[in-house]
Amino acid sequence: MGLRLSGKGQQSHRMVIFAAIFILMTLLILYGSNNANEAVYTPFHVATNHAIKTTDLKKWSGRDGYVPFYGNKTLNLHCHNCALVTSSSHVLGTRAGDEIDRTECVIRMNDAPTLGYESDVGNRTTLRVVAHSSVFRVVRRPNEFLHRTDSNPVIIFWGPPNKIGKEAKGTLYRLIQRVSMTYSNVSCFSVTPSKMRRFDSLFHRETGRDRQKSHSWLSTGWFTMVIAIEICDNIKVYGMVQPNHCGKPGSKKMPYHYYKPRGSDECVTYIQNESGRRGNHHRFITEKQVFARWAKQYNITFTHPKW
Ligand SMILES: *[C@@H]1O[C@H](CO)[C@@H](O)[C@H](O)[C@H]1NC(C)=O
Ligand SMILES: *[C@@H]1O[C@H](CO)[C@@H](O)[C@H](O)[C@H]1NC(C)=O
Ligand SMILES: *[C@@H]1O[C@H](CO)[C@@H](O)[C@H](O)[C@H]1NC(C)=O
Ligand SMILES: *[C@@H]1O[C@H](CO)[C@@H](O)[C@H](O)[C@H]1NC(C)=O
Ligand SMILES: *[C@@H]1O[C@H](CO)[C@@H](O)[C@H](O)[C@H]1NC(C)=O
Repeated sequence: MGLRLSGKGQQSHRMVIFAAIFILMTLLILYGSNNANEAVYTPFHVATNHAIKTTDLKKWSGRDGYVPFYGNKTLNLHCHNCALVTSSSHVLGTRAGDEIDRTECVIRMNDAPTLGYESDVGNRTTLRVVAHSSVFRVVRRPNEFLHRTDSNPVIIFWGPPNKIGKEAKGTLYRLIQRVSMTYSNVSCFSVTPSKMRRFDSLFHRETGRDRQKSHSWLSTGWFTMVIAIEICDNIKVYGMVQPNHCGKPGSKKMPYHYYKPRGSDECVTYIQNESGRRGNHHRFITEKQVFARWAKQYNITFTHPKW
């Protein structure tokens, strides 16, 4: 009796349950689609609840973070205007070469060639930022990377101190030192171990993520952007997509590198790296979220695509 609900009471009870289920389903669907949207391009992303502490990159650790491989040169490059040419296939067909070559300083990465791509990427190089893993590819083709440059180009090599550092005196170190002695016009620098740690802690401060604990590698793009901000008053970036580019429906397949037309797809590379949990991965998309913030803080503009 007391336990049995009357017919009417039962009905309203059912209504309440239906309503509750309906609301729950709606919430689930909404939450699910939100999540799905995000999962497409930012499964790693900047940590939530992370209070971003900004760093003034114009004076965060000076130029003593770069040491020469040979002689006692110091890195004293300073440019009013810089063109930062990415290695993305978005540069293809832009015919931006002349504009890039007219820029005071031209910055490139790793073994991205100019030979054969001049109309899109220009033919001058003031500064090249090279990862330890690209050293052989650069040194193997001196005509492309060491001769065809400005009269006094700079190359900054970054890598784990045990691979590239002066103290290690390993194969890579000696190889670059020999190049430095042979091509006296080219100034070769390495990032010091303490500066390498500063790059890590910068990533931590800007994303709320510990690079090592989150199984991340910093990309050459990260080093290059920070170095460009240190050196240049104004930066125009060629061929970098927006952080949310790969989440947009119908984003076209584009090679990751302009000089490897049959190489991996850019968005596939970005998304797979971004969502990688085991092993170490580049966080290309998270890094671009930080670049978007820096663009407002420093004079950075993006072209091809424009944003
Ligand atoms: C360092 O460079 C200066 C010129 O910039 C030169 O006068 C000096 O002799 C060099 N020192 C060494 C040890 O090579
Ligand atoms: C490349 O260099 C040559 C001269 O060294 C110049 O005439 C040419 O216009 C440059 N730019 C491009 C886009 O080829
Ligand atoms: C070094 O630079 C000078 C002028 O800046 C140039 O004439 C010379 O050819 C360059 N040497 C090499 C090896 O690139
Ligand atoms: C931005 O550019 C202007 C003009 O070129 C320059 O005066 C200013 O110092 C730059 N700002 C930064 C943060 O580099
Ligand atoms: C991550 O990016 C690198 C390029 O820097 C690429 O070689 C590698 O295949 C990517 N990893 C995945 C899992 O896609």
